Amino acid sequence: MELDHIPGQRTPSGARHYRVAMTGPPPCLQTPRLELRCPTTDDAPAMLAFAQRNSEALQRFGPQAPAGGHSIDSMVARIERAQRGFDDGTTVRFNIYLRDEHDGPMVGEVGLSNIVRGCFRACHLGYHIDQAHEGKGLMSESLRAVIGHVFDEMKLHRIMANYLPGNDRSARLLERLGFVIEGRAKDYLFINGAWRDHVLTSLTNPQAQDWYAICRPG
Ligand SMILES: CC(C)(COP(=O)(O)OP(=O)(O)OC[C@H]1O[C@@H](n2cnc3c(N)ncnc32)[C@H](O)[C@@H]1OP(=O)(O)O)[C@@H](O)C(=O)NCCC(=O)NCCS
Repeated sequence: MELDHIPGQRTPSGARHYRVAMTGPPPCLQTPRLELRCPTTDDAPAMLAFAQRNSEALQRFGPQAPAGGHSIDSMVARIERAQRGFDDGTTVRFNIYLRDEHDGPMVGEVGLSNIVRGCFRACHLGYHIDQAHEGKGLMSESLRAVIGHVFDEMKLHRIMANYLPGNDRSARLLERLGFVIEGRAKDYLFINGAWRDHVLTSLTNPQAQDWYAICRPG
């Protein structure tokens, strides 16, 4: 994936606009057991089935479902938003599939959002595994590949991942991967009908100093 700076753009306040369009095909990552690929509209039925199988957990930990519930149309709209986000350099979304099950169900998802470059070079990370596949190490395997992609290909410096206090599985997962707790944010996200505190963690890339020099816009 090549990074193509959008020259000359400025935010409304006049600051330099540091979004960088991602050119080239959306990435596809392979691990020993998994394939992670960016969704196209062909993935809408698998995404709908995933959302329906995991509706309780998605409601507990994720953003609100669209009014009227999930549908093929809402999944297509989500995929199209993700594609626009990929095109303007702010989002990369991966669906996770088992490699040994051709045309098998989607077993999880990983999202990189709020991708910012300039002197921040950071993104937020979100993830979810099908509850039938929890406890097999699949999300650790997925996130190792995604972290490698973020640091080696996208050349970002910081990945931020935040979780609800009490989400011990997520806490253990992030700790195993080297994420460090940086604090706690009050009323951070609107989840399951209320603004909820979150534990803030991040993982930084010690090699990114050189990359900043390489990737500096302009
Ligand atoms: C948090 C979540 C993503 C963890 O997914 P997961 O696939 O179970 O996580 P891991 O890959 O780390 O699996 C590790 C667990 O499997 C066990 N395991 C079994 N085989 C393993 C293997 N080969 N490699 C690593 N771990 C393995 C580990 O002991 C570990 O157990 P633990 O969770 O009790 O410590 C999942 O529980 C989830 O989707 N939860 C709901 C949504 C959510 O919380 N999202 C995050 C919002 S912040």
